[in-house]
Amino acid sequence: QTGKFTYDPGFLSTASCQSSITYIDGDKGELLYRGYPIEQLAVNCDFLETCYLLLNGELPNASEKAEFVGRVNKHTMVNEQMQFFLRGFRRDAHPMAVLTGLVGGMSAFYHDTTDITNPQHREIAAIRLIAKMPTLVAMAYKYSVGQPYIYPKNELSYTANFMRMMFGTPCEDYQPDDVLVRAMDRIFILHADHEQNASTSTVRLCGSSGTNPYAAIAAGVACLWGPAHGGANEACLNMLADIQQMGGVAKIGEFITKVKDKNSSVKLMGFGHRVYKNYDPRAKLMRETCHEVLGALGLENDPMFKLAMALEKIALEDEYFVARKLYPNVDFYSGIVQRAIGIPVSLFTAIFALARTVGWIAQLNEMISDPEYKIGRPRQLFTGAASRDVKPLAER
Ligand code: SDX
Repeated sequence: QTGKFTYDPGFLSTASCQSSITYIDGDKGELLYRGYPIEQLAVNCDFLETCYLLLNGELPNASEKAEFVGRVNKHTMVNEQMQFFLRGFRRDAHPMAVLTGLVGGMSAFYHDTTDITNPQHREIAAIRLIAKMPTLVAMAYKYSVGQPYIYPKNELSYTANFMRMMFGTPCEDYQPDDVLVRAMDRIFILHADHEQNASTSTVRLCGSSGTNPYAAIAAGVACLWGPAHGGANEACLNMLADIQQMGGVAKIGEFITKVKDKNSSVKLMGFGHRVYKNYDPRAKLMRETCHEVLGALGLENDPMFKLAMALEKIALEDEYFVARKLYPNVDFYSGIVQRAIGIPVSLFTAIFALARTVGWIAQLNEMISDPEYKIGRPRQLFTGAASRDVKPLAER
């Protein structure tokens, strides 16, 4: 019994920690940030309000929000030297490789806030990371396409500022379209935290050694990159493109047969989840956002979206997926929305990392603030050789 929540003893033995930040009920398909249903936050709040909630435990009132936004705006620029850091990468480097390097490199630029046990250091590092991730992701994109960097313009909202840094150029400014900005902001909210997923557990374990906050978050970026985790949105869109190439909706059956083949390693990307054994509530919200964005852009008949909905319908009626409780997760539709907004596929996971940074920080702070916490040290069941003597080389 932890507060209002009761767990069976079997579950307790698998729990890696206690947390009051995010609650998931995988059987019911429920997700709460600090007690607020994701469906309500996605409609009634913006991403910075959600950041404030995750970090502080309560939603901000108007003056608290204004103060928080003001603090974030003071840190949206990055040290000018960081652009030379980028030059060390090939132009075609994957944005997640670049972002892992840049976030880790922040330890070298902002060494005045590297003591993870110091609450003031953690507080400033949190604001710096939340404020600078959009700038760093946009710089990674601009570097990959050989365009000049666009500096943040703080009169814009957090998300409009990011989209201007992504799509603006010195020749033509970017006029943020409200529908697209709202959709991008909602994508950030839906990805902000998700209890003890692989990358969050990585951040907790890394931070528990006492390393600096930037290095711990860089470890999270590296873990999120994997296609079984944050890389699934990119993999899902590439999967839909492959099915399109094979012949589209008419070829879904052939693709599903490949997925079900015991000897094939083909997965239905964007489906299945370690915790959700019901529909991921974020996937529903992402599908609604798809409708809104594609409708606003006059792309209601976008073939990729139609293919995704047909694929979802067929999979949800197929015994293989039903028996294994495999449903769409957050990654199934997010790629289609981001593609419609104009985000290149290679940047999808970097966008996920941008949004999840606040969740990683909130979880790290929760762990470090617990006076009982110790450095993480998982144990193992040893299955190797028992003790034996070394033979001299001539006898081996
Ligand atoms: C994220 O943890 C989080 O919270 C993560 C995340 C977050 O916000 O941080 O929600 C973000 O990572 C979402 C997940 C994105 N990944 C994908 O969409 C990749 C495709 N999904 C699979 O890799 C898989 O579903 C996992 C890894 C996500 C979850 O795996 P599970 O629940 O541990 O399932 P499993 O590997 O034990 O598989 C159970 C069965 C197996 O078949 P059998 O051996 O029983 O015959 O289901 C099959 C699996 O082969 N299966 C799939 C499948 N997922 C599981 N078969 C086809 N396609 C799939 N996607």
